[in-house]
Amino acid sequence: MRVRVTTDQPWDVAADVLIIPIVGEPTFEGPLGEIDRRAHGELKGLVAFGELRAKRFTSAVAASGGVKAGRLVTLSTGEADGIDRELVVRTGSAALHRLAGRHVTSAAVWLEPLAAILEGGAESVSELIARGVVEGSFDPKSLYHETVPTAPPALDELVLVVPSGSDAAACTKAAERGVIMGEGSNLARSLSNRAANDVSPEVLAEEAYTLARKHGLWIDVIGPDQATKLGMGMFMAVGQGSDNPPRMIVMRSGKKGELDAAGRHLAIIGKGVCFDSGGISIKPADRMEEMKMDKTGACTVIAAIATVARLAPGTPLLAVAPAVENMPGPHSTRPGDLVKALNGKWVDIINTDAEGRLILGDAMTYAERLGATHLVDVATLTGAVSRALGDLVTGAFGTDQAWADEVLAAGHRAGERYWQLPLVDEYLTEMESWYGDVTNSGSAEGGLVKSGLFLREFATVPWVHLDIAGTAYYRRAKPWASRGASGVSHATLVELALAGAAPA
Ligand code: BES
Ligand code: MN
Ligand code: ZN
Repeated sequence: MRVRVTTDQPWDVAADVLIIPIVGEPTFEGPLGEIDRRAHGELKGLVAFGELRAKRFTSAVAASGGVKAGRLVTLSTGEADGIDRELVVRTGSAALHRLAGRHVTSAAVWLEPLAAILEGGAESVSELIARGVVEGSFDPKSLYHETVPTAPPALDELVLVVPSGSDAAACTKAAERGVIMGEGSNLARSLSNRAANDVSPEVLAEEAYTLARKHGLWIDVIGPDQATKLGMGMFMAVGQGSDNPPRMIVMRSGKKGELDAAGRHLAIIGKGVCFDSGGISIKPADRMEEMKMDKTGACTVIAAIATVARLAPGTPLLAVAPAVENMPGPHSTRPGDLVKALNGKWVDIINTDAEGRLILGDAMTYAERLGATHLVDVATLTGAVSRALGDLVTGAFGTDQAWADEVLAAGHRAGERYWQLPLVDEYLTEMESWYGDVTNSGSAEGGLVKSGLFLREFATVPWVHLDIAGTAYYRRAKPWASRGASGVSHATLVELALAGAAPA
C-alpha cells in the first residue's frame, strides 16, 4: 500500500472513497458544509433521514456528486472530549471494516476534524490513522483461505488529506511509521490466530528464524536437552508433557548486553503456550479451543522485535519467548511435583494449569543472565484479569514504580489502555510451600495479584508484567476488528524499545 499525503482540499482528492470523520453532532459549517454542498446535500439528507448519526463507530455511505472521490464514507467518533490516540487508530480500522467486501483500491481520509483535537495534530493523526487502516485490513479468515469475499479491502493507495499548512514531509514520515506499526501488529495477530495443529513450539521457532534472517536479528533457540542442562526446571516441567518439544526462543538486536540510548538493556518476554489444555489439572471442555491463543505473548514479542528492527535497526533489544504445549500425558508434570527453577528456587507445582508463570519465570532469569537490566513480560496469564478488566483494558504489575510508569507512558503513546494492580506482599504467605520455596498458585482469592507475586520471585531488576488474557483476542467482532487476536501490546513494546533508539 502506497501512502500519499496531500494538503489539497478534501473535495479535490481523487480516490475510490473519501472517509470523513464526524466528531460530535455533524455541523455543516466550514469544510463539511462545503463537502455536503458539492455532494448536492447528500450528507444533510442522511442526517435528516437518521442514517448519519453522532454515535461512535456508526457510519454512512453517500454518493459524492461533485466531490472528486467516488463515494463518501462518514465514520462517527462521538464527542470531541472522547478522542484519544486509541480512538484515532480505531477510527482508521473501523473505516476499513465498514468497507468490507466493497470494491475499493484507493481511500482518502480527511484528517482535519481529528487533527484539530488530538495533541500532536496532523503528524500524530497521520501516524495513527495509517496504523489503523493497516490494522483494519487484517482478516483472520484470510489465514486459511485464498479469497475471502467479506474481507476488508486491500488498498493500493491511502491518501491522507492533511490541513493546509501542515508539514507534509513530516506527516508522510509519521504515516510510514504507522504503517510499519500496523504491519507488526498484524504479524503478531497472524501468528497468534493460527491453530495449535499448525503452530507448535517448533513452528513458532521457525517463524522466528525467518524473521530474524529477514531483519538481521541474532537468534538462538534452546531445545529440551539444552534447557534441562541449563537448569530450566520450570520451563521443562511444562514442556515435557507434550510430544511437540518445547523451544526457548531468544532474539536480539544490537550487541550482547549493549545498553540503549536510555541506558537500558531491555528484554521483552512473551508467554508462548501453543496450546493450554491445563495439563493434568485439565481444563473444562467449554471454550478450551480458545487456548490456542495462549501463545499470544510470544507472538507479540517476536513481532515487536521485528518491528523495532524495521524502524530503528540496531537498537539494543532482547526478546525471549518460551514456547511449549501444556498437555496431559505419561510424561506430564503432576500436581505436587517439585521442580528447581533456573534461579535456584524450588517450586511446588500444585496446579499444572498455572503454567504460564512457570515458563515465564525461567525466561526472565535467562534474560537477566543475557544482560537484561529491565524486563517486561506480556502474557495471557489469568482468567481473573478478563473478569476484572474485560477485553479493552490490560492489567499491569510492576516494580519499581519508576519503571512501571515508563512502561505505562509507552502504552499511552501507543494508544493502548492499561490498569496497574498492586503487588500485595502479604498474599505471598498464602503461596508458601511446606517443603519448596513457593507454590505456583494459591487460593482463588486475589489470584490475579498472586500471579504477579509469583513472577516477581524471578526478577532482580526493574520488571513489569502485562496480563493480556482479557485483551489478547476478541470473542466477538468489534467495529474496528474481527473476532480473534487483537494485536494488543505490540505497539506499547515497540514504543518502549524505541525510547532507547539512537537519536536520528
Ligand atoms: N492460559 C490461562 C489463562 C487464560 C484464561 C487465558 C482465559 C485466556 C483466557 C492460564 O494458563 C490459566 O490457566 N490460568 C489459571 C490460573 C489458575 C490455575 C491459578 C486461571 O486463570 O484460571
Ligand atoms: Mn493454564
Ligand atoms: Zn495458559
